[in-house]
Amino acid sequence: MAEPSTLEQATLKQAGKLVAIYPGSFDPITNGHLDLIARASRLVGKLIVAVLRNQGKSPLFSIEERTEMLREVACPYSNVEIGSFDGLLVDYAAQRGANLIFRGIRAISDYEHELQMALMNRRLRPEIETAFLMSGEAYSFVSSHLVKEVASLGGDVSGLVPPVVAERLKRRVARPAV
Ligand code: PNS
Repeated sequence: MAEPSTLEQATLKQAGKLVAIYPGSFDPITNGHLDLIARASRLVGKLIVAVLRNQGKSPLFSIEERTEMLREVACPYSNVEIGSFDGLLVDYAAQRGANLIFRGIRAISDYEHELQMALMNRRLRPEIETAFLMSGEAYSFVSSHLVKEVASLGGDVSGLVPPVVAERLKRRVARPAV
């Protein structure tokens, strides 16, 4: 492979200094999220995976459980930190010294809502950019919502979530037979 040019070297050095945020509900983390963490962590110096605390919708897993699962599955990525936030995402980003937000796009149907959020965030803090990354195609249909539904109805979610999450889901949704 050819040696990187001076411009490429300078760009890589710059990228190594970037601090980015990957925010979400992560209730629970799926293999689609994990795929995005792997992709995003390669592009920046530090990636903060930030779990939203004050959700209107009642989550299946507490904030502690969600961050614990994230810590377990993200431990192979040395530049990834797990955090949590409430209030405005851009304020948390600024407080953590991040000027880049990553969001995953699975299909074109995700785009409209993501665009609205990105533009609102830009209006609130123009110095913070949002970048969209395409999820791995194998996970384009995977969402936390569907995974919870399938698990609660007794379906198999292995391969869609990390094994530690599949195990926790099984325990959480286990219901006594009637
Ligand atoms: O995984 P999700 O539920 O799609 O993540 C949504 C999230 C957490 C990124 C979004 O709800 C968010 O950023 N909430 C924080 C509140 C905020 O900053 N709102 C105004 C800008 S859209």
